[in-house]
Amino acid sequence: MNPLNPFAASPQVVTVALNPALDQTIEIAGIKLGEVNRALRMQVDVGGKAVNVASCLSDFGVSTAVTGQIGRDNAALFEDLFQRKKIANHCCYLDGLTRINSKLVDTASGQTTDLNMPGPAFSPDAAQDLLKQVLHRLDQLVGQVKWVVLSGSLPPGMPADAYATITRQVQAAGGSVLLDTSGAPLRAALAVGPKIIKPNRHELAELVGQPLDTLESLIATGRELLAASPAPELIAISLGGDGALFLDRDQALHALPAQVEVSSTVGAGDAMVAGLVAAQLEGLNLTETARLATAFAAAKLTRLGPHLPRPAEVRALAQQISVLSQTPITDL
Ligand SMILES: Nc1ncnc2c1ncn2[C@@H]1O[C@H](COP(=O)(O)OP(=O)(O)OP(=O)(O)O)[C@@H](O)[C@H]1O
Ligand SMILES: [Mg+2]
Repeated sequence: MNPLNPFAASPQVVTVALNPALDQTIEIAGIKLGEVNRALRMQVDVGGKAVNVASCLSDFGVSTAVTGQIGRDNAALFEDLFQRKKIANHCCYLDGLTRINSKLVDTASGQTTDLNMPGPAFSPDAAQDLLKQVLHRLDQLVGQVKWVVLSGSLPPGMPADAYATITRQVQAAGGSVLLDTSGAPLRAALAVGPKIIKPNRHELAELVGQPLDTLESLIATGRELLAASPAPELIAISLGGDGALFLDRDQALHALPAQVEVSSTVGAGDAMVAGLVAAQLEGLNLTETARLATAFAAAKLTRLGPHLPRPAEVRALAQQISVLSQTPITDL
C-alpha cells in the first residue's frame, strides 16, 4: 500500500498536514544585526502541527498516517521521520521546498528569535487540486481510520473553509474530526461540527472577539459552544503553564499541569491533541481523557522535538495529574 512504509498499513488515525514545515535552529553567541556572524551549530527538525501530532501518536503505539502536502525538494527529511516512526505517508508531493522556519537561539542573551515562513502560496486552481487530492485520500482511508486530525494554519491561497470541507466529508463518511486551528479556518469548520476542538485560550478569545482572562469566562464560552448546533462533543482549552480545561455537555474539568523539567514548550499543544485522540481510541471518560492528554503534553515538555518517552512512562504520568471538577453544569 505504501512503498515507503509498509508497517503502518492499517492506520487508526490520520493527520492532515496542509502546511508542514522544517524547523531550522541556529545557535549563535551574540548576534550582530547587519554584520557577518559565525554561528555555533545548526539543527533541522521536521515539524508542523499535523506531523508533530502523528509523531507523538506513533511514539504511544498508535498506528498513524499523514496526508496533506510536502515539497519534493526536501521531502527526504519527512520520509526519514515517517520511516523511523512507522507513519504511513499519504502526502501529495508538490514542486519546490517545504517551508523552512528558522529559530535564532542567541546563547549570549538567552533570547530566541523566530522567523516563520507563511508557506507556499497556492493559486485558486492549485489549492482546489490539492484539496481534491487530500479529500480523495481521506475517502480511501476513512472506514479503517476512525479519527482525522486537522491541525495548524492553512497555507496562503488555501480557502478558509478547507477544514470545514474536510470535516463535512469525513464525518458524513462516519469518521470523527479533531480540529486544532485558529482564526477564520476555526470559525468556518466549527459551523460544521467537528467532534473535538482544542483551542488555546488566545485562540478561543479571538474566536469570540473578547478577552477571556478568568477560568469562569473560559468555561462560559466553552459551554456556549457546546450548546450550539452543531456542537463539538468535547472541548479542550489549553492554558499553557496553567494546565487545561476539558468540557463536555455534563462536566467541566481543570487539569493542573504536571511538575516536570521543561526542555521546550514548543508543540506541547500538539502533544495534547495526540493525547486527546489516544484517549478517544481507548474510550476513556472525561477525567481519564484530561489526565492522558495532559500527560502527553507534560511528557513532551521534557523533550526538545515532538517526541514522547515510552508509553508506560506517559501512563504513569497520567495517574499523577490532578483534575479538579468545576461547578457542575446543569443548565445546558
Ligand atoms: N510551561 C508549562 N508548564 C507546564 N505545562 C505546560 C507548560 N506549557 C504547556 N504546558 C502543558 O501543555 C498543554 C498545551 O500547551 P499550550 O496551552 O501552550 O498549547 P498551545 O498554545 O496549543 O501550544 P502549541 O500550539 O505551540 O503546541 C497545556 O495545557 C499544559 O498542560
Ligand atoms: Mg496550539
